[in-house]
Amino acid sequence: MNWLGAVLALCVLVPSAHSWCYHEPSCNDSTWPTIATKFCNGSRQSPINIISASAQLDTNLTAFTLNNFNGNSLKSITNTGKTVKVTLNSGISISGGGLSGAYDSLQFHLHWGNGSSVPGSEHTVNGKRYPMELHIVNSKAIYAGNTTLAVSDSTGLAALGFLIEEMSGNATGQPASWNILSSYLSKIKNIVSQISLTDLIPGVDTTRYYRYLGSLTTPSCNEAVVWTVFKDTVKVSKDVIDKFSKMIYVTNSTSPLIVNNFRNLQPALSVTTSSSSKTCYSVGLMALTVLLGRL
Ligand SMILES: *[C@@H]1O[C@H](CO)[C@@H](O)[C@H](O)[C@H]1NC(C)=O
Ligand SMILES: *[C@@H]1O[C@H](CO)[C@@H](O)[C@H](O)[C@H]1NC(C)=O
Ligand SMILES: *[C@@H]1O[C@H](CO)[C@@H](O)[C@H](O)[C@H]1NC(C)=O
Ligand SMILES: *[C@@H]1O[C@H](CO)[C@@H](O)[C@H](O)[C@H]1NC(C)=O
Ligand SMILES: *[C@@H]1O[C@H](CO)[C@@H](O)[C@H](O)[C@H]1NC(C)=O
Ligand SMILES: *[C@@H]1O[C@H](CO)[C@@H](O)[C@H](O)[C@H]1NC(C)=O
Ligand SMILES: *[C@@H]1O[C@H](CO)[C@@H](O)[C@H](O)[C@H]1NC(C)=O
Ligand SMILES: [Zn+2]
Repeated sequence: MNWLGAVLALCVLVPSAHSWCYHEPSCNDSTWPTIATKFCNGSRQSPINIISASAQLDTNLTAFTLNNFNGNSLKSITNTGKTVKVTLNSGISISGGGLSGAYDSLQFHLHWGNGSSVPGSEHTVNGKRYPMELHIVNSKAIYAGNTTLAVSDSTGLAALGFLIEEMSGNATGQPASWNILSSYLSKIKNIVSQISLTDLIPGVDTTRYYRYLGSLTTPSCNEAVVWTVFKDTVKVSKDVIDKFSKMIYVTNSTSPLIVNNFRNLQPALSVTTSSSSKTCYSVGLMALTVLLGRL
């Protein structure tokens, strides 16, 4: 092949490998298996609908240790054309949570719908789709941030999924951490303020979660992800949720807005659940009721 031929071949190959979409009539996830046949057509694909009543209790699903989630976490923010991705400072990691060891926290990104009235979380719980979903992506520490190695290990990545719910009442700009995060959307470049990951997940009891083995939710859909979806939602005010679908363009303001960037649900998989304080409480209460009944 001559030089021109090589360039032409690249120009033909590169768009087909990267052009994928979510829900457009002419371009949607029905073509993903032809883009990355091996994985997107696999047998443990994400996201899924989680049916809470079917989730088996697994006492191995202990509390997480979230290292440096309290510190200044955000390094840089980029528009990938599909989502907003925030790269994290080094030294942030997770362990515990029924994982086999430590995982380095590399980045987080978001999935959303089209305004708070068209929800866009990837996972649904008992059929309910939430306005947005936050994914914190962690890679097995032994791979030292080499994601090529991580995606070829069936448990190489650990994703933490947080469902975002609309805050009740008329609050605006809440919580402050999310308001600050959304303030970067109009000028996606330098991060100046100091937000921690903990600030972004107020009110979430990280001991209460669902667990299943799944995949990346974007091509090439590698089946390398230990999924955790927390039961508690993060409450964010409507005005802040709306900013994500109204301010982020695929390339620049002459291109379409990024909306509905969630993958369709995949076939059900076996889901387990951590023992929660609520379960312990109700078991305790039941025991007490039985005791009292005997008196
Ligand atoms: C998805 O895209 C295919 C063409 O690739 C089209 O035939 C189909 O109708 C689309 N589905 C939806 C729900 O838009
Ligand atoms: C995906 O898998 C289904 C069922 O196993 C099969 O019918 C289909 O041809 C596969 N598609 C591709 C692109 O491999
Ligand atoms: C819990 O962990 C133990 C020890 O690692 C293991 O033998 C057992 O199979 C695990 N249970 C489940 C339900 O995964
Ligand atoms: C998103 O919602 C706006 C109205 O809020 C509408 O004009 C637009 O067509 C919607 N986009 C998609 C892709 O549904
Ligand atoms: C990741 O690891 C593979 C295999 O060891 C190596 O070929 C590749 O260069 C590494 N990538 C990076 C970015 O270090
Ligand atoms: C929200 O605002 C509306 C009208 O502005 C008002 O009627 C309603 O009481 C407010 N709700 C709360 C919870 O403050
Ligand atoms: C917007 O992006 C397109 C390519 O996607 C480019 O051709 C155009 O010049 C850009 N416009 C501005 C104002 O930057
Ligand atoms: Zn994601």
